[in-house]
Amino acid sequence: MKERIEELEALFEKALSEATDAAALENLRVEYLGKKGHVAELMKGLRDAQDKKAAGQLINVFKCGVESRIEEATEAMKQAQINARIRNAKKYNPTLAREREFGSYHPITLATREVEDVFISMGFTIENYNEIVDDYQCFEALNIPKHHPARDMQDTYYLDNGQLLKTHTSAAQNYIMKKYGAPLRAIFPGRCFRNESTDACHENTFFQMEGMMIDENISISNLIYFMKTMLSEVFKRDVKVRLRPGFFPFVEPGFELDINCEICGGEGCPSCKNSGWLELCPCGMIHPNVLREGGIDTEKYTGFAFGLGLTRLAMMKYGVKDIRDFNSGNLKSLSQFKSI
Ligand code: PHE
Repeated sequence: MKERIEELEALFEKALSEATDAAALENLRVEYLGKKGHVAELMKGLRDAQDKKAAGQLINVFKCGVESRIEEATEAMKQAQINARIRNAKKYNPTLAREREFGSYHPITLATREVEDVFISMGFTIENYNEIVDDYQCFEALNIPKHHPARDMQDTYYLDNGQLLKTHTSAAQNYIMKKYGAPLRAIFPGRCFRNESTDACHENTFFQMEGMMIDENISISNLIYFMKTMLSEVFKRDVKVRLRPGFFPFVEPGFELDINCEICGGEGCPSCKNSGWLELCPCGMIHPNVLREGGIDTEKYTGFAFGLGLTRLAMMKYGVKDIRDFNSGNLKSLSQFKSI
């Protein structure tokens, strides 16, 4: 009995010195003190012992020893953990500013800034404009008189006081022409609203980036140059574009500039209505009526305007398949843009 206990003592000490976490200690406890553990085993052997009293004492001393050694080790382990936590903890910050997770920029904000940077480098100024505008700014100043069928293209949210939520960033054209006169180069990003039924590529709230350049001898080649430069800067490669004729009462001639759908690589997907192309940037030469309404001398100046679909651009750039993700407030999709 004595030898067996000594043997177990040695084994226990060895195992204890190797136990590095609470689970290992618990295993050890079960192994020695559990119902089928070594101590129980020894107790069974008591029956055959010659000096039962002495043997019982030995077992008891051994049992108590094991118990207190495990307890000590558990305490020591807890203390070591607390010390490690204190050591690793950041220094106490006596100000109220607590550490917290900072949010991330919305992909539309990131895309806006990127396009802005490109145009700033080409000498354009950035303008802000209201989201609530008058009929004059949104339509009449843009050569879209009352009852003109072109108004049907933009199903408009009207307010009770006759004002409306701007349906396109072109609503700022007249204001900016009057503010700066010619020559001018300006871009003006903004949120636009249309009463659309929503699907993967349509939303009732979306962003555009309007741009205008008015000077002597401005032609379609200037327009194409600026569009191409901007798009290849934003996509960091030569993107494929195509120009189709497009009708907008405030430009003449007017175009639709499409880019090759980056999501499906041109094969067709819901985002590009299976065409392989995405309408990204309607544009054209500013109609003389619009220039005149803005107080610009049409004998001397011409200009181009474009209405870049910022939301579409962000979809393309970041591979977002469903436009509704942008306004969903779903952090799962939106917080992916943290590191950009
Ligand atoms: N404002 C037009 C739209 O949103 C786009 C556009 C802008 C077209 C500038 C031509 C020139 O539909």
